[in-house]
Amino acid sequence: MADVFQATVRIFRYNPEVDTKPHWKEYTVEVEPTDRVVDVLHKIKWYQDGTLAFRRSCLHGICGSDAMVINGRNALACKVLMKTLGPKVVIEPLRGFRVIKDLVVDMEPFFAKYRSILPYLINYDPPPARERRQSPTERARFDDTTKCILCAACTTSCPSFWANPHYIGPAAIVQAHRFIFDSRDQAWAERLRILADRDGVWRCRSVFNCVEACPREINIKKAIAEVQQAIITGSRDL
Ligand code: SF4
Ligand code: FES
Repeated sequence: MADVFQATVRIFRYNPEVDTKPHWKEYTVEVEPTDRVVDVLHKIKWYQDGTLAFRRSCLHGICGSDAMVINGRNALACKVLMKTLGPKVVIEPLRGFRVIKDLVVDMEPFFAKYRSILPYLINYDPPPARERRQSPTERARFDDTTKCILCAACTTSCPSFWANPHYIGPAAIVQAHRFIFDSRDQAWAERLRILADRDGVWRCRSVFNCVEACPREINIKKAIAEVQQAIITGSRDL
């Protein structure tokens, strides 16, 4: 256990039911290099301060529920190892969302934008006797954007979103891309109309903080460019 070290963890705290304003609280925790940030949050919550609130579920980078700002960068707490951070760690809630308590933010406006792009397959033809077939090439067309776990790390790292919370944001564009370029889908033109709105895809200013923030390493830059190109040409056959 020679590698065990003491970490100072500074956490944004705010309980609107009792606090007049947010404040920081510091905890000293014994950690192993292979502990993840979520393990450290558990140590604090279970052994030091049960009032600390944060979201997590799968603990394996799949559910997207524990995105937060760790030492200034958006990340999933279950994917960041303490050995990559060192003995001083600062943890904040995602920026640009209302804080419900501590690290828990109100995700409803984010999911409203997600719903607005019709995130499901739409096909008006009568159902076939078997599945709707697709070639490997057609499937590969949108493979990257199927990886999105709706963690919001991209949208909340975006200066355009901070400046204008009505901007639909990269996550909704990525989700729209997943269906727009699905050969089986017949509502792609409707989605392009939605994304051509004043708060749609043209609000992207190509800063691309989102690309760095995405824990799934989705090529968000490419997805946004392809959606913009489809709007310009009126076609998804780029
Ligand atoms: Fe999270 Fe990446 Fe999806 Fe954005 S595109 S919501 S960062 S998984
Ligand atoms: Fe599910 Fe981290 S807890 S992604």
